[in-house]
Amino acid sequence: MHVLILGAGAGGGVPQWNSNSEACRRARAGKGPALMQSSLAISADGRQWVLLNASPDLRQQIAASPALHPKGDRRHSPIVSVVLTNGDVDHVAGLLTMREGHSFGIYATPAILETLQEDRIFRVLDRTRVEFNPIEPGTPFDPAGPGSSSSGLRVEAFEVPGKVALYLEGEGAGPMSDPPGATIGLRVSSEAEGGNSICYVPGCAAIDESVRRAVAGSDVLLFDGTLWRDDEMIRQGAGTKSGRRMGHVSMSGPEGSIARLAGTDTGRKVFVHINNTNPVLLSESDERAEAEKAGWEIGYDGMEIRL
Ligand code: MLT
Ligand code: MN
Repeated sequence: MHVLILGAGAGGGVPQWNSNSEACRRARAGKGPALMQSSLAISADGRQWVLLNASPDLRQQIAASPALHPKGDRRHSPIVSVVLTNGDVDHVAGLLTMREGHSFGIYATPAILETLQEDRIFRVLDRTRVEFNPIEPGTPFDPAGPGSSSSGLRVEAFEVPGKVALYLEGEGAGPMSDPPGATIGLRVSSEAEGGNSICYVPGCAAIDESVRRAVAGSDVLLFDGTLWRDDEMIRQGAGTKSGRRMGHVSMSGPEGSIARLAGTDTGRKVFVHINNTNPVLLSESDERAEAEKAGWEIGYDGMEIRL
């Protein structure tokens, strides 16, 4: 299985258009990593590729990744489908980039498909070419494209604590509502290679026993690395919301991902969906050293994982 991190940044990326955080300043000066928004590409055979989330930076991400360039025909893309983990802008806006006549499948929970279907701008995806496929947590599926019998991959979704997308906060049960199917994690394995699997959880509000169980036994875990500490954006004057309010568990602290995922039986652990306020992006920071000492890698754009 080939895994390619297309964007290791959270919504806004690094640098974010209106942020002057230290990480953004360094990225602009070429002195620190620039990160596009949250997405990865995965393939069993290097020929058919499946996107896990489609970020607003997708056009640039494809341009930067030769494996995703058209091959052969004048109109072609090796991307056969997109699997979505929630309905956030940083995970769905890239679908609008994929509007130019290509046939592909979208796999998402009924809640997320409904959100896309209710939004008139997504009608730009020609439904005679783009298949909307509902997925159900706990039921494995093959994220094959239309007209193909198999992608060679097996995907299983699991529910994780989350929150409705920001733009849906005013509706229904309130800003922190977390209806079924709002946020999922994915476990992906290759049918051919027997057993190796990667778990992808770019958004997670809390790590309870069900999350720990769901990621146990994976060879690679790519996990929500939005913030180092819950009040980080408030302390840096970058916003008024805590991580909890945004539906993201922090890396640090007793309830944080480093502590709560320590001791789970996972191979490599890599943070993705990293916000531009997170001090782990600063190479010399104590926080970076602490995360690495705890066995975590800090994801970056273009990072490739083979398993
Ligand atoms: C998030 O991860 O919390 C969202 O991407 C926020 C947003 O929609 O900007
Ligand atoms: Mn996000």
